Amino acid sequence: MRVASRVFAALAAAGLAFVVVSGVVDSSAAALPTASAPEPPIEELTPIRDTVVFPVGVAIDSRETEGATSELLLRHFDQVTPENAMKPESWYDAAHEFAPSPEIASLMDFAAANDLRVYGHVLVWHNQIPAWFFERADGTPLTTAPADQQILKDRMHDHIFAVAKYLSDNWGSFGGGNPVVAFDVVNEAVVEGASDNLGMRPSDWYRVLGERYVDLAFRYADEAFNQMYAAPGAAHPVALFINDYNTDQPTKRAVYLALIDRLLARGVPIDGIGHQFHVGLDVPVDNLARALDDSGGRGLVQAVTEMDVPTGTPPSDATFLEQGYYYRDAFRVFRDRADDLFSVTVWGLYDARSWRDSQGGPLVFDDALRAKPAYYGIVEGHADEAPLAEFLGGSGSTSPMLYVAGAALLASLGAAWLVWRRRHSAGVAGRAKVHPDAGVSADEALATLSRRLPPSGR
Ligand code: XIL
Repeated sequence: MRVASRVFAALAAAGLAFVVVSGVVDSSAAALPTASAPEPPIEELTPIRDTVVFPVGVAIDSRETEGATSELLLRHFDQVTPENAMKPESWYDAAHEFAPSPEIASLMDFAAANDLRVYGHVLVWHNQIPAWFFERADGTPLTTAPADQQILKDRMHDHIFAVAKYLSDNWGSFGGGNPVVAFDVVNEAVVEGASDNLGMRPSDWYRVLGERYVDLAFRYADEAFNQMYAAPGAAHPVALFINDYNTDQPTKRAVYLALIDRLLARGVPIDGIGHQFHVGLDVPVDNLARALDDSGGRGLVQAVTEMDVPTGTPPSDATFLEQGYYYRDAFRVFRDRADDLFSVTVWGLYDARSWRDSQGGPLVFDDALRAKPAYYGIVEGHADEAPLAEFLGGSGSTSPMLYVAGAALLASLGAAWLVWRRRHSAGVAGRAKVHPDAGVSADEALATLSRRLPPSGR
């Protein structure tokens, strides 16, 4: 063989080996399950939870407590948040009686059986709460009259204590085997642009009780979860969080932290600051770092409680790749601040289960339960998933285009050589498969490669 032929042969082999090894050839693309198809096998990937030092959580309902989804969950996560099951409305029947939804028991049983931590969500919120909470027995609205305020204080107290009692009666005392390790006590108490009231959201809680509703919620939660229903000798087993969205935005963060500072000044038993992080590709990852940094130094832990990153619509391979970088960089921020972090939770297991799926698949796994670039971004540098981590573009801000363009060049040189050989050598004439094991022709490989490439200018 002439030297030039050898060089071309090496290039062809390298190019096609790259294409195959790097996963650019997606031989499973046609295997999407239909509604009646058997459940997909779960990929044997490095568990996300093994790549971080903080607990990593996911929001679920009972659909994720069995079958393939539960297998995926148990492989990658060590904590769950009930997406809806523990919101105020889930604890009552139509007659206003305390009647916990069966969803709660499903989640708690699943967590107890599988040694998962439960991050409770949420005791006091203005959403997903029955209207009667804020009404007198005759259905008229509660006012700021002392008798009405007492009604609402009693309701809040009884709600929090009933939740703690039910959970400890059925799954053990807190700190004595109960899976619950934290609770969002108050959710979304502040809003931007409410300058007349220190940024407090004008919810019914606030309207009737004023800012002290937040204080009361934490005091009741502390008494119930960390005293009355705590295991003897357990020191403060349930971390009590305040939680909010847009904490990555400076104006929202300012009112949030100002409230937290007032709570601390009043000696309110708050343990943690929650950041929902319902962000998007347009929110700089730096903003997440700033949210965590600005919230530090108060002696409180922090949690990322509800992260999701929609791509915008329509989602594409290119935007999912960009999303992979986003998750990679966000988890770099989290790993760098691991000492402050109680946990990091994503708001759903796979795209179709996200409340924001219509904004462009925001989560880490796709609807066939396969890892998206987001997964490879999260574990990059912390797991052996090397080829696909390379597909994500290597380190720093290097564009994946350089890497992929190199591969494309090698592959096209290889293809050219094959055409030449086919025309000039009887020995290889008619052989469509360029690599006996790959099972793809050069043309097919190139077509697949170009389908997977981000459009130029990413
Ligand atoms: C969302 C759930 O994901 C949806 O299923 C539900 O319909 C509405 O609530 N902030 C919160 C979460 O604290 O409880 C919300 O969850 C998302 C925004």
